[in-house]
Order: sequence, then structure tokens, then C-alpha cells
Amino acid sequence: MSRKTLGIIGCGNIGSALARAAAGEMTAHISALILWDIDPRKTALLEKELSVARTASDAEEVLATADLTIEAVSPSLARELVKTAVRKRKDILVMSVGGILDNMELLQEARQKGVKIILPSGAVSGIDALKAARIGGLDSVTLTTRKPPGSVKGAPYLKEKGIDIGSVTEETVIFEGNAADAVKAFPRNINVSALLSIAGIGAQKTGVRIIVSPEYKTNIHEIEIKGMSGTIITRTENIPSPENPKTSYLAVLSAIAALREYFDTVRVGT
Ligand SMILES: NC(=O)c1ccc[n+]([C@@H]2O[C@H](COP(=O)([O-])OP(=O)(O)OC[C@H]3O[C@@H](n4cnc5c(N)ncnc54)[C@H](O)[C@@H]3O)[C@@H](O)[C@H]2O)c1
Repeated sequence: MSRKTLGIIGCGNIGSALARAAAGEMTAHISALILWDIDPRKTALLEKELSVARTASDAEEVLATADLTIEAVSPSLARELVKTAVRKRKDILVMSVGGILDNMELLQEARQKGVKIILPSGAVSGIDALKAARIGGLDSVTLTTRKPPGSVKGAPYLKEKGIDIGSVTEETVIFEGNAADAVKAFPRNINVSALLSIAGIGAQKTGVRIIVSPEYKTNIHEIEIKGMSGTIITRTENIPSPENPKTSYLAVLSAIAALREYFDTVRVGT
């Protein structure tokens, strides 16, 4: 594979880890690293540290220049970035998966145009088995997420329902519904349910339960998949990333693993 120009939009926790991995272990595959973040201090820091990196003047420039762009910003921006990437026939790796759940036609358009859209497994396990099980037929997919109350602070759903998250003293189910509603209710917290929906039976049919308790110190995701091939149960106990406690460390590592796969000719797992 020829060397690629890699773009990174959002140089926070995940974006900067990917920039470092790209300029480090994947350097043989990279001809240039084009960065964009609304906060110029983030890009300046990386530009100083990584000789292959330079800062673009906006997100549009990244998409126009890069062969593969990494979105590591927010669900609301992800939607627009994916639309532009597909229109420009540019590959894109999307972290804020919740942002594209309402635009599934983009995935079909990308396939027709030969554009790669990469959606890393993120903070959950079991996506490999789910993809295989789906071929045989699925009956149900359910995600139960346990979180410390502080990690959902500021979610639109809490305001809408008048839930005072600071006053939760015991294990409390704060949401029970499908993934389509979960992503709207907790846009920054529940990307995993979006990914699960896309890999499995869709957002309307994927069940989601969110439970909070002051006893929980980390995010725990349990997935139950039932189908023609049997039952799959996975449990992922995540450690928060030091740079951004709202993001699980495994999500950062999953993004690096997905980028490695993009360059690798050997594929391991489904
Ligand atoms: N798929 C998953 O399992 C998973 C897991 C964790 C996080 N995420 C998602 O990945 C995304 C990034 O997470 P993170 O931990 O790196 O967050 P972060 O807050 O550390 O980084 C986000 C960066 O985006 C920048 N930014 C904000 N608005 C911008 C704009 N309009 N234009 C350009 N840059 C802008 C911020 O300055 C910040 O540097 C989030 O949307 C998060 O929800 C996905």
C-alpha cells in the first residue's frame, strides 16, 4: 500500500493518541499528518511533537487533503464530516458513531462509491461475534451499561426527565428503551449502542438499559446476543482514559487497532 496522508479532526484524547500512533509505529505508512481542532493549543502541541504533522486551516481542508480522515470530535459534527467524506470519495474513521445512526443511507452510498467508512469497536467486546452471528439470524441484542452518575452529567435526557443525577445514592435504572432513543438521550455516552445497532439488528430493535450507581467506579458494558448460532454474552469493564474520564481507555486502543488494520494486509478476527 502506498503511503497515505492521514487527517485528524478533533485532537483531544482519542485524536492525539491516534496522531502519536500514526507518527510512531505506523510511520512507514504515513506521508503526512494533517490536523484540525477548534482549540489551536491541541494542534500546536502535536505539531511541535510530531515532525510529520501540520495544522490545517479548517476541517474542510483536512477532508480535501487526506486519504483517510479520523473523526474524533462529537456526534453532531460526525454526521456532516461523513457526508462530506462520502461526497469527496475520501475514507473516514468515525469515533462518534451515534452521529450517523440517523443517516444509514450514507453507508450504502459509501459502498457504492468504494469509500471506506471505518467504525471501530470502541469500548465494547463482542462486535466480531455479533457480525458472524448476524449471518445466521439474530433474535435479540441487548446492551446493559453501568456507569458512575458523574459520567452522564449534562445529558439532554436528564434535563428532559428532571433527573437530578447528583442525588442518586443507589443503583438506579435511568434509561430503558431502544438504541435509537438512547443515542438521542445520551449523545456523548452511548456510542457503543450505535455501533451495536449497526453491526446487529438496527437501532429500533437493539435494547438498551443504562444503570447508574455511586458504587460504580468505571463503565461496564454487558451485551447479550441471541440468535440461530446460540447465545453470546460479553462483559467489558472499562478503565477511563487518563486524558478524558468520559472516554474508556479501550475506545482509544480500539481506534489505534482499527487504524493498524487499515494498513495491514493480514486480517485477524471476523
Ligand atoms: N465509539 C466509541 O466507543 C467511543 C468511545 C469514546 C468516545 N467516543 C467519541 O469520540 C469522540 C472523541 O472523544 P475524545 O475522548 O477524544 O473527546 P475529547 O473531548 O478529548 O476530544 C474532542 C476534541 O474535539 C475538539 N473539538 C470540539 N469541537 C470541535 C469542532 N467544532 N471542530 C474541531 N474540533 C472540535 C475539542 O477541542 C477536543 O480537542 C467523542 O464524540 C466521543 O463521544 C466514542
